[in-house]
Amino acid sequence: MTHLDDRTMTSSGFYVSQEAPIHSDNPVPTPQAPAPDILRCAYMELVVTDLERSREFYVDVLGLTVTEEDDNAVYLRSLEEFIHHNLVLRKGPVAAVAAFSYRVRTPEDLDKAVAFYEELGCRVERRPEGFTKGIGDSVRVEDPLGFPYEFFHDVEHVERLAWRYDLYTPGSLVRLDHFNQVTPDVPRATKFMQDLGFRVTEDIQDDEGTVYAAWMRRKPTVHDTAMTGGDGPRMHHVAFATHEKHNILAICDKMGALRISDRIERGPGRHGVSNAFYLYILDPDGHRIEIYTQDYYTGDPDNPVVTWDVHDNQRRDWWGNPVVPSWYTEASLVLDLDGNPQEVVKRTDDSEMEVTIGADGFSYTRPGDDSGSYQGEAAKGFKLGHQL
Ligand SMILES: [Fe+2]
Repeated sequence: MTHLDDRTMTSSGFYVSQEAPIHSDNPVPTPQAPAPDILRCAYMELVVTDLERSREFYVDVLGLTVTEEDDNAVYLRSLEEFIHHNLVLRKGPVAAVAAFSYRVRTPEDLDKAVAFYEELGCRVERRPEGFTKGIGDSVRVEDPLGFPYEFFHDVEHVERLAWRYDLYTPGSLVRLDHFNQVTPDVPRATKFMQDLGFRVTEDIQDDEGTVYAAWMRRKPTVHDTAMTGGDGPRMHHVAFATHEKHNILAICDKMGALRISDRIERGPGRHGVSNAFYLYILDPDGHRIEIYTQDYYTGDPDNPVVTWDVHDNQRRDWWGNPVVPSWYTEASLVLDLDGNPQEVVKRTDDSEMEVTIGADGFSYTRPGDDSGSYQGEAAKGFKLGHQL
């Protein structure tokens, strides 16, 4: 484990280290069975309460491509995808997430997934015919953190539409980028995901070692999923990538023109964490979608781990814009394998929202700069103040 003292301060104002400086006092045991070789986050199954309204949002507003649909479900993909879908909208009574689904390298990795989770005493269900259309042999589990995870390898290939520029719109979504999960105990979740083969790329901490969030990857980007501290298990957001920043601005313009600007929750902006350009929007059920572009390559084994101070007001938005409270408090329920919502457990560690507002939450924008208009009283009326 890297100690906080082993970190190196960079000229950008965050720390780097070689290993995630996160330690759990309450770890999930490490299984003897090897973890499956996970390639990437592949799709999310979302339960929606009004399929027609949701289809309109994801197809007509966001421009996702319908691979297949029936009365109960719509299977959607992004323009550069060649597997059957990146998102399943399934009609159901309670808006929730039915599966965070990952593709594994080989069919044999499904045997590994079964052994890995069974050793942990988790509920595991394997269906050779798959749980959704377009996907074969699959394993679904209720993981030790309470999330419904799925693993599959066999999948129906469909046409990759990347060259079909006649289909592109100004805000086209080209890839599924990542998931984001809300969990009460971020160090415990991080240690478990490391056992599952994930590598931490960035995190947010304070001087006492409280961890507020951690980002982790299998594919060589900043993340396939992130663990955000809060009442959980819940789903914070699912993110789709665009090619460029202007595509995100086009989505904002379109949502304004359609008079659904109330569904723009946060952004557009530039993240500190991940360095990506971002936008958070809400679907008709309140499921949060991030539009994301231009993070960085992380594929080398010695990729430096970035640690942000929770009091650095540029960590969540590089321009120092405030985070709206709903972004911290609202998230989607997740389902167990019977389709019932998982019980939400309260976070007991400090809340990022609470430690970054109020008199103690005002943040430096330049380390060591104790005076002037960027700190103290003057800051209260400018960005860092009452809005968060
Ligand atoms: Fe994200």
